[in-house]
Formats: sequence, C-alpha cells, structure tokens
Amino acid sequence: MNSRIFLLLTHSAAGGLPLGVIVTTSESQNTIAAGLKLLQSILPGDAFYGRGVLGPKVVMTDDCKALRQALQNVFPQTTSLLCVFHVLQAMWRWLWDSHHGVPKGDRQWLLDILKKMVYDMSPEELEASYHQALQDPAVLKHQQYRDHLTAVFAQRKDWAICLRTGLPTRGNDTNNFVESAMRVLKDSIFHR
Ligand SMILES: *[C@@H]1O[C@H](CO)[C@@H](O)[C@H](O)[C@H]1NC(C)=O
Repeated sequence: MNSRIFLLLTHSAAGGLPLGVIVTTSESQNTIAAGLKLLQSILPGDAFYGRGVLGPKVVMTDDCKALRQALQNVFPQTTSLLCVFHVLQAMWRWLWDSHHGVPKGDRQWLLDILKKMVYDMSPEELEASYHQALQDPAVLKHQQYRDHLTAVFAQRKDWAICLRTGLPTRGNDTNNFVESAMRVLKDSIFHR
C-alpha cells in the first residue's frame, strides 16, 4: 500500500515500550502533524504524567526535518533532542561523501572531534573542545569541514549530552531501540 509507519516508543525497564503508531500516505510535515493530532485527541488526561495534550516532556528523533517540525507544531512545549548515534552517523557519512574531499586518513580523526563534543561532561568542556577543534591542524586544512562543524555546533542543544541534564532521558541518549522495534514489525508482522 506504500504506507509510511511512524512508531512512537518510550524507554522502560523492559526496553522500548510502544506508545503509538501512525500510518500515513506521505512523510510531509502536515501529514505527520495530522497524525500526531489524531493521537493527541485520544490521549487520556493523565497521559505523560499528567501533561495530557501537552505531550511528552522530551522527544528524541533522527534528524528528520518534517518529523521534528510536526512534533514542534503539535507539542510546542516539548524539548526535542536528536539521537546521538544518528548525529555521529550523519557526520561519518558527511566525511565519506566525495564532494567534501576529506582524505581517508583524516576521517576518523575528524569524526572523533565531534564524538568528543557529544560526550563532553560539562558545557565548559564542550566550549573548550569546540575552540580547540577550530585550531586543530586537520580542521584548518579542511575549510568545508570547519564550516560544517560550526553549523553542527550551533545545534548543540539537540545533541550534546552535557546539555541534557534536568531532562528525564535517564541515560537514554540514542533511540536505537526503535530500530529493533521497526525490525520486529517488518520481520514478524509484515513477513519481509
Ligand atoms: C534507558 O532507560 C531505562 C528506563 O528508563 C533504563 O532501564 C535503561 O537502563 C536506560 N538505558 C540506558 C542505555 O541507559
């Protein structure tokens, strides 16, 4: 039927716990928002620890613009985070993209620069890592990477683990359990 499926899960002591499923005919922002609004309309008042239609305190997604904007639109008071695994994976793909002309020997080093920033323990350490990166000889060699890193750093609220304190992520900084839930759906339900 060429439908798209969006699984909403939360972490729990027993792993990924399903909260909702949205089946759509497109991945546009408006369509996803319409699906989220339908879901919102059936939430009981005590959903999300009494937040009800305000929705969850935090959501974590891959870096999908339509999905993030739809969530923002329907749940404006929700903090939106990116899965750090996908942030690092996106950087790895960026480094391997031949358009960016990064020599093979430099890719791991340049990835590690971002990885360090993702896992830095404090906002001060994060700032220091960034300023140190801008002076790094390998970074100075690659203007495109430097620009890209600057753009990624501007979004640090979405991925830096040290900026997540106070949010109930409870150590869940990736959404990889969604991948396994997706696989169960494809294998066991769709027999693909
Ligand atoms: C994710 O959260 C659940 C419960 O909130 C917890 O049991 C689990 O250990 C966390 N996972 C990680 C990787 O910290």
